[in-house]
Amino acid sequence: MGTAFEASLFDELVTVRRDLHQHPELSWDEVRTAERVCAFLDRYGVSYRNAIGRTGVIAEIPGATDAPFVALRADMDALPITEETGLPFASIHDGRMHACGHDAHTSMLLGAAALLVRERNLPAPVRLIFQPAEEVGEGAQEMIRNGALTDVAMIFGGHVDRHFTTGKIAVTDGPVNASTDSFRITIHGEGAHAARPHEGIDAVVVGTLIVSAIQTIVSREVNPAHPSVVTIGRFDAGTAPNVIAGTAVLEGTVRAQEADVRNHLIASVDRMALAAGHLHGAHVTFEVLSSTPPVSNPVDVADIARVAAKEIAGDDNVCPMEIANMGAEDFGNYMQLVPGCYVRFGSRVAGKEGYPAHSSRFDVDEDVLRIGAAYYHAVARHAGAVVAPRAGVE
Ligand code: NI
Repeated sequence: MGTAFEASLFDELVTVRRDLHQHPELSWDEVRTAERVCAFLDRYGVSYRNAIGRTGVIAEIPGATDAPFVALRADMDALPITEETGLPFASIHDGRMHACGHDAHTSMLLGAAALLVRERNLPAPVRLIFQPAEEVGEGAQEMIRNGALTDVAMIFGGHVDRHFTTGKIAVTDGPVNASTDSFRITIHGEGAHAARPHEGIDAVVVGTLIVSAIQTIVSREVNPAHPSVVTIGRFDAGTAPNVIAGTAVLEGTVRAQEADVRNHLIASVDRMALAAGHLHGAHVTFEVLSSTPPVSNPVDVADIARVAAKEIAGDDNVCPMEIANMGAEDFGNYMQLVPGCYVRFGSRVAGKEGYPAHSSRFDVDEDVLRIGAAYYHAVARHAGAVVAPRAGVE
């Protein structure tokens, strides 16, 4: 291990993580969470601004004054899930749970703050971004609007991952998270009596046709070597068994790792939905509701992350992700503006399969707090050395 990590700090990170875990807050409601973040920063003498983008916190640790910032980011929000882990520090709130490990992300970034604030000669200043509302894909944009990336040269983030045992860090060149675009299809048919279908235009029939048709986009239109997903998650229509539905609303999401695939998926859903409407004389509209860009690590920044990861985890414990992750991550919003790298922190206890993220039984191996904090500390130093102007070099 390249960084001395004393037991007392680790204990403190576990305490913070368990406290956040027990009191999860949903996107944009991270008020108590932000208070706990600020209390920790106060204890370590780290300066910060709070209430950024409503519930965000931005802390800064000084470094060489002529260098731009290295940014480190953690997300803080929980999910609308009722916890079933049976942990002694399980959520006290029904319908709210840290089921994606953002409690661990927040705690490990606090650990990094504690390690970084002791440094007297950081090559570049470090900005720590404690971001709200990742799960709804809005927090990163709001933090950016509030200056999170001002004077930032590079940004680093990561996620706990049960596909890797604790102690491993996955650093990948290229795509690590998919783009996501949620969409809504509205079908305007003509309501009628269920016994007289010829007098109406059945929005349910048009809707089912659309659901079936768009299943062929991934299987027939996209190169199978390029991962993509089209899902309808909501189909809302009808009021009674003996009434033909005049309208139907379908909502879904498309995921892709490349821009051209992403554009193709959206265009094809639109085309097929409108065509199904034409087929039956229904009026169909298509709209994209919200979008998150893909996350793709540039090789030169991934190289910096790899050096830091190897220093902390050892050469044998740093590997790339081998399977495409089609999950969304609003870290992509930052990386559209500054270069960065998004890694995965192994958090599975060896020999235990664990439960997937967003499951009511999800948990992390708390040793990941030590690994994550030490990694962020290391990557801030290594990236700082790259972004800082080199004195005396012509
Ligand atoms: Ni997450």
